[in-house]
Amino acid sequence: MSDSYDLIVIGAGPGGYVAAIRAAQLGMKTACIDKRASLGGTCLNIGCIPSKALLESSHHFIEARNGFAKHGVMTGKVGLDLEAMMARKTKVVEQLTQGVAFLLKKNKIDAIMGEARITGAGEVTLDGKRKLTAKNVLIATGSDVMSLPGVEIDEKRIVSSTGALELTKVPKTMVVIGAGYIGLEMGSVWARLGTQVTVVEFLDRILPGMDGELAKMTQRMLTKQGLKFKLGAKVTGAKAGKSGVTLSVEAVKDGKSEKMSADIVLLAIGRRPYSDGLGLEDIGVKRDDRGFIEVDATFQTNVPSLYAIGDAIPGPMLAHKAEEEGIAAVEIMQGQSGHVNYATVPGVVYTWPEVATVGLTEEQLKEDGVDYNIGKFPFSANSRARASGDTDGFVKILAEAKTDRVLGVHAIGPDAGTLIHEAVMAMEFGGSAEDMARAFHAHPTLNEAVKEAALAVAGRAIHM
Ligand code: FAD
Ligand code: NAI
Repeated sequence: MSDSYDLIVIGAGPGGYVAAIRAAQLGMKTACIDKRASLGGTCLNIGCIPSKALLESSHHFIEARNGFAKHGVMTGKVGLDLEAMMARKTKVVEQLTQGVAFLLKKNKIDAIMGEARITGAGEVTLDGKRKLTAKNVLIATGSDVMSLPGVEIDEKRIVSSTGALELTKVPKTMVVIGAGYIGLEMGSVWARLGTQVTVVEFLDRILPGMDGELAKMTQRMLTKQGLKFKLGAKVTGAKAGKSGVTLSVEAVKDGKSEKMSADIVLLAIGRRPYSDGLGLEDIGVKRDDRGFIEVDATFQTNVPSLYAIGDAIPGPMLAHKAEEEGIAAVEIMQGQSGHVNYATVPGVVYTWPEVATVGLTEEQLKEDGVDYNIGKFPFSANSRARASGDTDGFVKILAEAKTDRVLGVHAIGPDAGTLIHEAVMAMEFGGSAEDMARAFHAHPTLNEAVKEAALAVAGRAIHM
């Protein structure tokens, strides 16, 4: 193995390994380094994939327990084999991470295990020993759990998402700190399996940044499923003892404090860009005040030929955002016109029902003074949702009043995370609500709710 490359990618998460594959496709001699033994980064090892495996399994459990009978399917008493559920999750992760190793090999990319440090222009040192050189270096080191003073993660009683994916028994009670993506997804998993989950959120709403109406409906749905919410409250400390954790919680409004207790506490207040040990200070790479690496429109840092993408740079911390940036960065390095359209990054919370969003929220449109029309359609009026018995939720389309151009789509409902891509495509092509409404939608499908919401923008929904 020669130690000189066209591109060295540091980090084999969805940003890094996808960038490496694109680079190889474009003829670059590429190495992809990760300090983790298994490839795929946070997403495949301790993020997107294991969490979705547990969400799926716990959904089957709750359906078998509460949902089958209404379809006339009688199962008798439904039991839980948590060990088998966890083993399945581990197998899914193994298969996918091995799949990434196969893809790198197939594309003749050197997958190297070790901790990388940038030690000079185009120079990367592995584990303090081996030196590699490259024309370009791409930082794709992702992110890590954000800590909270007074709440020390031990991954046993006070856990991050990583520990919450590995619990060996169903806790009786859990306090989740933070009502964002992780809090709601992992809170859902454990609530479905029998834990009494209370979510403590600093703000007076859940899912900050998402459309307010969507967030309200999500809270209502999850409350119906047994999750409790304590909004406008901040955790000021948590102490783990032998039998559980005692938390100090303070109301944001008046500072009134109270004690809470739980078997397990999950800290999910966001993630921070990860660049520890990379040697960025030594070579003068600029970072913003939150630690994100600053890049220009070509994903280049202030150091020539040093690029950065994914969770390590500003923007939504999502796997598909990292992937698109990785592809664009590499194409730009090769003189092509790689591009990321940040106006159409979809966000999906994989609760049940799923919550999905793309584009501007109603609150943002109001704040920007944009004149808009709304089309909304409930799944209760969609025939496929009725047939399957999943009628909770709605699709909401926001279109510019003057041009009818779709500016944002927000949905909560069965398979909303799949449906939202119809809106992503429409928005990518600058489509109007009329375009979405006039396009064929097979009957009976959940997508017809999208079509009806698009029709509703002009006040002409058929099935309402
Ligand atoms: P990462 O995936 O974090 O990969 C970075 C890699 O770099 C890591 O493997 C790390 O070991 C390596 N690395 C770091 N420093 C060095 C070094 N010095 N030398 C060598 N290697 C190094 N996003 C979604 O879009 N959908 C989801 O459903 C979803 N679910 C999630 C669930 C959870 C519980 C969590 C925690 C996150 C989830 N995310 C999800 C977010 C998603 O995981 C991240 O946005 C995504 O992984 C970012 O990709 P990345 O390539 O930038 O970095
Ligand atoms: P988040 O940013 O989604 O949510 C954090 C929540 O914690 C916010 O509601 C915030 O107001 C609240 N908070 C902050 N400080 C607090 C405090 N002291 N006390 C109480 N509440 C507090 O972060 P989360 O859930 O940790 O996830 C990290 C990131 O990982 C997400 O932003 C998302 O980008 C990604 N992710 C994506 C998933 C998906 O795409 N389905 C799933 C899981 C994670």
